[in-house]
Parts: sequence; structure tokens; C-alpha cells
Amino acid sequence: MRLDRFLSNLPRFNRADARLLLAAGRLRVDGETVRDGRHEVREFSRIELDDELLQTGKPARYFMLNKPAGVVSATEHPEHRTVLDLLDEPGKHELHIGGRLDLTTTGLLVITNDGLWSRRLTEPRSRLGKVYRVTTEQPITPEYAEVFARGLYFAYENLTTLPAELEILSSHEALLTLHEGRYHQVKRMFGHFQNKVTGLHRERMGPLVLDPALAPGQYRALNSAEIAQV
Ligand code: URA
Repeated sequence: MRLDRFLSNLPRFNRADARLLLAAGRLRVDGETVRDGRHEVREFSRIELDDELLQTGKPARYFMLNKPAGVVSATEHPEHRTVLDLLDEPGKHELHIGGRLDLTTTGLLVITNDGLWSRRLTEPRSRLGKVYRVTTEQPITPEYAEVFARGLYFAYENLTTLPAELEILSSHEALLTLHEGRYHQVKRMFGHFQNKVTGLHRERMGPLVLDPALAPGQYRALNSAEIAQV
């Protein structure tokens, strides 16, 4: 969010106050004086007005987790274990999930407190493909690839899915690359052919590849190269 917006969202200041404070050079972001209201600040920016701390600024945190089946992609749930239960990290309730997976789906899940970063990773206009390994009950035919590339109409949302790429690996297994994340999208796409998905595993999200060293339920922090790639 812009710094002027951050200030005018505080109950004590309106937009005119924010402009005056900025012009007077009374604001510091991460230790630097900022006079331009368009300066972008984030949840973990440290923001000071004179000697007063307006926002403490928390360090950004990024994890990848190999989600097992039977665990929900949510921070709280009344009956199932959640992916947050798998994390042994202080302050984990400040984290959110970038790109959820269904209860039965396994594989790459990203957990962070950096909302801008996770939005970049998941929003369709970033054009970062999410790659799923799909196993099905019935054989997969080349017609699927044509239909998925054209897009499928989803009546409930009244939309046509973005072109998706299908690479058939064997009679019952394929890699599907999606550029969006509609509700139960992969299962519904195969459902168009009355073909039940029996296994669904996310291997990749844009440049991030699930670390093969992570067993189901394990996680690790992302390294700085992985964070910077997104
Ligand atoms: N599509 C699905 O059907 N389920 C997922 O978990 C992800 C994509």
C-alpha cells in the first residue's frame, strides 16, 4: 500500500494531514526519511513518525510445505488438522497460505506473511503456471489437451477457464499446467470427460519447485534465490 494511504487509514490522520507530515519530512520507513506519499509500504515495513513507532515491521517469512492428504489448507478448522498445525514456528498465526489445495490434494504449498509476494505467485496476470500431476480412473486421450487449451466453460462462475497445457505421461497420468486457481478446477476439468481424478499432486508454482527432500508433512524456509524469483 502507498504510504499516504497507510497514514490516512489511521484514525488520527486525514489525507491533508498525511500530505503535511510527508512534506515536513517527519516520516521514516525502515530508517529512511520518505517525503513521497506514493512510496510503497508493506506489512513488515517499519514506519515511524518523528520518534513514534506507527508500525513495528516484522521480518518477511516464506516456507514451502509438502502437503499430505487429509490436512486442510486453512489456518483454522473445526474437525481437520490444518497445514498450520504442521508448522513449528513462532507467530505462525500471522502467516497465510498462497494458493490453497483441496483436502485430498498433495504437494507444494506456500506459506508466508508477504501478501504482495503471494499474490504475485498466484494471480493469473502473473502468468506463473502451477503444475499438477494428475492420476485418473479412466484413460486420458489427446482430446483432453485440445479442450483444456481452448478453455472450459464453468457455468457456476459463468467463466471460461484460461488456456491450460496438458502433457500426457501415460494412459492414466498427465501433467497439467494451470494459470489460475478456480474451485476444484482440475477435478472439474477432468470431470468434463466423466473421468475421476484419483490422485492430484502439485509439483510446481511458477519458478518454485517442490523440494524432493521434503516428505509429506515436512516443510522448509525458502532460500533468498527462491524468494527473489517470484
Ligand atoms: N484443482 C483441484 O481440483 N484441486 C486442487 O487442490 C487444486 C486444483
